[in-house]
Amino acid sequence: MLEPPQVEIDATALQRELDALAEISEQPAPIVTRVLFSEADLRARRFIKRLCADAGLELREDAVGNLFARWPGKNPGLPPVATGSHIDAIPNAGKYDGVVGVLGGLEAIRALKRVGFEPARAVELIVFTAEEPTRFGIGCLGSRLLSGVLAPEKAAGLRDREGVSLEEWRARAGRAEAALGSVRLRRGCYSAFVELHIEQGPLLEREGIPIGIVEKIAAPATLRLELTGEGGHAGAVLMPGRRDALLAGAEIALAVERAVTSTGSDDSVGTTGVFRIEPGAVNSVPCRALLEIDVRDTQQSTRDAALWQIEQAVAEVCRRRRVEWNLQTLNADPPALCDTELVDTVASVCLRLGLQARRMISRAYHDSLFMAQLCPMTMIFIPCRGGVSHRPDEYSSPEQILQGARVLAGTLAALAAR
Ligand code: GLV
Ligand code: MN
Ligand code: MN
Repeated sequence: MLEPPQVEIDATALQRELDALAEISEQPAPIVTRVLFSEADLRARRFIKRLCADAGLELREDAVGNLFARWPGKNPGLPPVATGSHIDAIPNAGKYDGVVGVLGGLEAIRALKRVGFEPARAVELIVFTAEEPTRFGIGCLGSRLLSGVLAPEKAAGLRDREGVSLEEWRARAGRAEAALGSVRLRRGCYSAFVELHIEQGPLLEREGIPIGIVEKIAAPATLRLELTGEGGHAGAVLMPGRRDALLAGAEIALAVERAVTSTGSDDSVGTTGVFRIEPGAVNSVPCRALLEIDVRDTQQSTRDAALWQIEQAVAEVCRRRRVEWNLQTLNADPPALCDTELVDTVASVCLRLGLQARRMISRAYHDSLFMAQLCPMTMIFIPCRGGVSHRPDEYSSPEQILQGARVLAGTLAALAAR
């Protein structure tokens, strides 16, 4: 590997931008909520576009709102090296998830520009649309479409809880001129993809290690379950005749816990993160329930066995309670393996920078899971306090973010030099 340029990350500017982006939220600080196509999401996109334009990057936005900011290389014939992440945030989130990879990626590029580094191939920052599943129940919407894992016809049919389709949302956001089919990229369009992200787990902090290099991303799956029972007066409908949708859902949520705790693997996790009931009145028997269930494991076969057990439980509980059910698998993705050469490249950058690094698994999913379909991929993790994420108290220090951006800059330089 060529000696990487000595870059200086402007930690002050980076922190200022992280703070400014956190202000753009649907809820008051310290809560960050930026759901796809919300006013806050659209404002955050404008903020990022302005920063990218100020950095002299060439901007392109595709039909689903994925944003590409390119620093052209000397040889336009070579596929670019890419980095990036997301700026949407789940309800009641913090300010680092995704954002560190976007603003850290931008600062890595600016730092390389400042030292006069001339990339042989283009370096591209990608801001992916809706890594979070909040609006449509499915995560990584932008990267699924880019990689072809999600067919455009299927994506067009996605509807949010209010019944508004992706097509309608695209029109509202002014992105509907081009068809969704135009989003897809071909395999090999990038030479590599490297995503900087907070760990969202406790290992780096616990071990006092500043950098994690991801070797594998765990296999995620999401189920959506609609239950229809029968409502009625809480005083008048006697217990033996009831078809209570909430009670069926409650038994199923417990069955999810049982399914993942009985696989024999500590890596199995299951969460019923959405549980809404109708009509939601204290003196009325719940007639309908909507559950969204997240199931993951590092091994696909173990995850699938848990899914099977959950499906059996849904059928058994609903028959016994005489509740109708509609169970949809929104996604059930395989795990992704990172590219060993890329992992080694990041490791040697860390070595040169004198930064200790450890190899690890990502239990969270990321757009990298789908970028792996297009090109070699890995991720750079930095510690976050207590391993906390998807909460307003999510935190990584300016120093930890700075080190992550330095490693990313060194990695991009190594990959763009040839
Ligand atoms: C990403 O936000 C995930 O849920 O892993
Ligand atoms: Mn997240
Ligand atoms: Mn994320």
